[in-house]
Amino acid sequence: SGSIVVKDLADQLGIKATELIKRLINLGVMVGVNHELDKETAVIVATELGAEVEERASVQEQEEILIQGEEDAPESLRERPPVVTVMGHVDHGKTSLLDRIRSTRVTQSEAGGITQHIGASVVEHDGHPIVFLDTPGHEAFTAMRARGAQVTDIAILVVAANDGVMPQTVEAINHAKAANVPIVVAINKIDLPDANPERVRTELTEYGLIAEEWGGDTIMVPVSARTGEGIDKLLEALLVQAEIMELKANPDRPASGTIIEAKLDRGRGPVATVLVKRGTLHVGDVFLSGTVWGRVRALINDRGQRVKEVGPSMPVEVLGFNELPEAGDDFVIMPDERQAKSIADARANRLRASSESGPRGVSLDEFYQRL
Ligand code: GTP
Ligand code: MG
Repeated sequence: SGSIVVKDLADQLGIKATELIKRLINLGVMVGVNHELDKETAVIVATELGAEVEERASVQEQEEILIQGEEDAPESLRERPPVVTVMGHVDHGKTSLLDRIRSTRVTQSEAGGITQHIGASVVEHDGHPIVFLDTPGHEAFTAMRARGAQVTDIAILVVAANDGVMPQTVEAINHAKAANVPIVVAINKIDLPDANPERVRTELTEYGLIAEEWGGDTIMVPVSARTGEGIDKLLEALLVQAEIMELKANPDRPASGTIIEAKLDRGRGPVATVLVKRGTLHVGDVFLSGTVWGRVRALINDRGQRVKEVGPSMPVEVLGFNELPEAGDDFVIMPDERQAKSIADARANRLRASSESGPRGVSLDEFYQRL
């Protein structure tokens, strides 16, 4: 599937052919200037050099193309559930609200399994799934965005009706705006005698959030995490917001997504929760995530049930990692183990190279370790 002559690759990378040949020898590939390299080897060696030469971006782009595949045709896109995170000031009721939403789900349907903590949960409203991330928005945004990942479609901003807009409310608004994520406001604790939802609406106008009923475009729903009042309306509002956004993905392609949680489990080894962004993930698929790779041994949903496959927007616990991946890293399906391993190794080498100071050369020791 495509090859390139050594001297042409050297030209493209802007380095001398002799330098490239040295690198190839270090990788155990014996070639001359006029030899042809297969695409895979070319990407590996170019990726390694990427840490040192100016072409780094384009080399990484090549790697992206290799792992991302084709753009999705518009007609291949299908509606997908929204992925929602909860944000707000300390003690305004983020955890209580999530708990209430989850318990609503459990009572509504006869849950076959026990709800298990995988970092995200799926709630159904009127037959439409909504995915909730457990990590509070602040952390999810900062940790994920630092790694260039964006998993959230909608942020619920929780504002206690008795307390109003507080410093972390403003922070949350800024996070969501920076990430270009629309906000749905949950005005919480309306069961309290000193609750004042009107005041919350007024205060929020100062930050550019104008309630729909006041002619703006921000959906605001009064709720009580304690009594359950308004929770259905909030779920409804999330689906309305999702519809406006026309969230779509192609389910009929190899999966890609993001690691949202990873842990070393006694007995099960490294396990991670993956949020599938597009495509469908199956048991048996070979994957790559950062410098880690593996083959899917089992998929477990948020109810603790083993499933054979999962589609776009869905969170699922994945077993089969060779090492612990990192939250925020991409997760992509690869054609085979050999390619997964070679890109994982190339990335690991690149990381090592960039963490070493000064010009990097492969030591004899390293060379022999690789043989
Ligand atoms: P942090 O995680 O510490 O930032 O807080 P949080 O936003 O997750 O708030 P949490 O859900 O822990 O709730 C804080 C307090 O408010 C708890 O004592 C809750 O019982 C109470 N609380 C939450 N929601 C409601 C509500 O709707 N009504 C009333 N009366 N109390 C509530
Ligand atoms: Mg909390």
